[in-house]
Amino acid sequence: MSDLTALTQDALAEVAACGDLAALDEARVRWLGKRGVLTEQLKALGALPAAERPAVGARINEAKQELQSAIESRHAALERAAVDRELTAGGIDVTLPGRGERPGTLHPVTQARLRIETLFRRAGFEVAAGPEIEDDFHNFEALNIPPNHPARAMHDTFYFPDGRLLRTHTSPVQIRALQARGAPLAIIAPGRVYRCDSDMTHSPMFHQLEGLVVDENISFANMKAVLHGFLQAFFERELAMRLRPSFFPFTEPSAEVDMSCVFCEGRGCRVCKQTGWLEISGCGMVHPNVLRASGVDAERYTGYAFGAGIDRLAMLRYGVNDLRLFFENDLRFLGQFPSLPA
Ligand code: PHE
Repeated sequence: MSDLTALTQDALAEVAACGDLAALDEARVRWLGKRGVLTEQLKALGALPAAERPAVGARINEAKQELQSAIESRHAALERAAVDRELTAGGIDVTLPGRGERPGTLHPVTQARLRIETLFRRAGFEVAAGPEIEDDFHNFEALNIPPNHPARAMHDTFYFPDGRLLRTHTSPVQIRALQARGAPLAIIAPGRVYRCDSDMTHSPMFHQLEGLVVDENISFANMKAVLHGFLQAFFERELAMRLRPSFFPFTEPSAEVDMSCVFCEGRGCRVCKQTGWLEISGCGMVHPNVLRASGVDAERYTGYAFGAGIDRLAMLRYGVNDLRLFFENDLRFLGQFPSLPA
């Protein structure tokens, strides 16, 4: 019996010393499990004289119960300690000073647009705007693109059920500006345009820059000088520009504007597809039908117009090789274009 008292003391000491739940469970199995030390004591009862068995059995059970409740309270204490540890480790100290937020920056396309506006304002242009939801007249008809004209097929237009549409280019602003102000006029109109098209170089929404100058004696040479001057100012370097014959229903004659590749200085690289040239804009002399549709005297006035991709200009200026980066709004990308102080 003194044996049992000593065993119980050992067991209680061991339980008290358990530092975690796993150790405690091991102790429980060692003492109270199917083959545990105290369980074995009970099994040994049979060897005692019958008269002693009840008293000894009762004492063994008492010892087991004492140990059981010691294990339970140790279990509860260890669990509480674990929760406390977790709370302190992951705890939020609300008295710490804040970490501070980085100030936002202007989107690179916005930066490019603002820069373009500044450069053209300096050259005497005003900045005009028009609606992104347009009607057929301003987006097509008045621009000398009648119904069923093949040029409509190239525009991949998003239509609304009522016949209105998302403007496919900024050229409708030409019409709106001429209708509102008449000639003479020198405007640029940067803005969003939409086409049902999406891949590495096309986004269903992108930005165009429209330019329109209408006055007496406006010539093709005026246009060439303004475009060349703009490109050199925008890219801050000497670069060559060339005009290739092209076609737009709303200009005649029409041309495609190329500039020497800003990556290889015209030697030929991947970006310019080894040609040394980058296509940057469409342009031409405003078609008399466009002037007439806007209520402008086509005998007295001539004009030029151009339409360039702002996103493309921004890509070339900042060395961005995938248009989609501009529209994913990943702050790790956008944060690389800190806005210059105004
Ligand atoms: N609107 C034409 C386009 O989206 C570009 C353009 C504008 C061409 C003005 C000539 C004059 O492709």
